[in-house]
Amino acid sequence: MAEIGKDIAKAKTLLEEGKLVAIPTETVYGLAANALDVQAVTKIFKVKDRPYFDPLIVHVSDAGAIINYSVQVPAKAKLLIDLFWPGPLTVLLEKKGKIPDLVTSGLDRVGLRCPNHPLTRQLLKSLAFPLAAPSANPFGYISPTRPEHVNDQLGNKIEYILDGGECNVGIESTIIGFDNDQVIIYRVGGLSVEAIESVAGKVIINAPSAAHLNLPGQLLSHYAPRKPLVVGSIDKLLEKHFSNSIGVLTFQKKYHAEVIKKQIVLSTSGNLEEAAQKLFSAMREMDQSGVDLILAEEVPNVGLGRAINDRLRRASHK
Ligand code: TXA
Ligand code: MG
Repeated sequence: MAEIGKDIAKAKTLLEEGKLVAIPTETVYGLAANALDVQAVTKIFKVKDRPYFDPLIVHVSDAGAIINYSVQVPAKAKLLIDLFWPGPLTVLLEKKGKIPDLVTSGLDRVGLRCPNHPLTRQLLKSLAFPLAAPSANPFGYISPTRPEHVNDQLGNKIEYILDGGECNVGIESTIIGFDNDQVIIYRVGGLSVEAIESVAGKVIINAPSAAHLNLPGQLLSHYAPRKPLVVGSIDKLLEKHFSNSIGVLTFQKKYHAEVIKKQIVLSTSGNLEEAAQKLFSAMREMDQSGVDLILAEEVPNVGLGRAINDRLRRASHK
């Protein structure tokens, strides 16, 4: 098992030696390596069992760092970065040559993000290089929001997990790119569409579809528990899905049926931020429980609700 601790100096040394360290962010835990070191980055793909066509986000210590890694920054990108960094926003920008092609899977753009977590920001500030970091889970599985989640699944493959406690956003960053002056959202996430539109105008949401199946960032089946998960109206699903051991993941209300063996309510007060924060640990808990089928309901499709519904749909896609 990996060591879990708060030793930034140790994390720094390991990263400088080209090793991997799991790091906390406000969204989910990342599996980090020196983004400029091809050998170190290769280890990320191996440990995660991640296909090389799925590029990695590069984490920087502050907005000033982006000129080192991107050729040019559109005006709206600057505006959004100024307002929302550090925070759950990843910006795709035309990359400079020093970002290895391995990091971007050969694409021209690099995803840059400044995470909002005090430990990781301190770590980034102490390093002479940015950190490539995907979520710290085996490829396709649910993202980790606590150090123990990382240890459960990757603890035998890495040395150190920097302990930043529980992630307080709980859902991955929103990924945006630009077509001239138009903002395109490639992944809905921890920064709401409404927040982006309030400063950058109407966005286009580039939702994943079967036609995009193998495009980076557009994988349909993702964030998935091992057990079958079905999304819909719980009452209707309970009639249809015959199992004697069902787990129910609900937004606000409780359901009653004999076949329900486990139930998690994401937010009794109907708060979407709270629901987002709890979503992935609730999915893990369901997966590890004795139930053989998970039923989940969508939440209101506003604010972080969009990202929650997106993750539920992807979790249910087989
Ligand atoms: O909140 C987050 O974004 C977390 C934390 C650790 O920062 N990271 C994360 O990374 O979710 P990952 O690798 O699990 O998901 C990043 C997604 C991938 O689906 C990848 O395809 C897409 O971002 N992506 C990364 N770089 C890209 C690029 N240059 N062009 C298109 N998509 C990119
Ligand atoms: Mg991921």
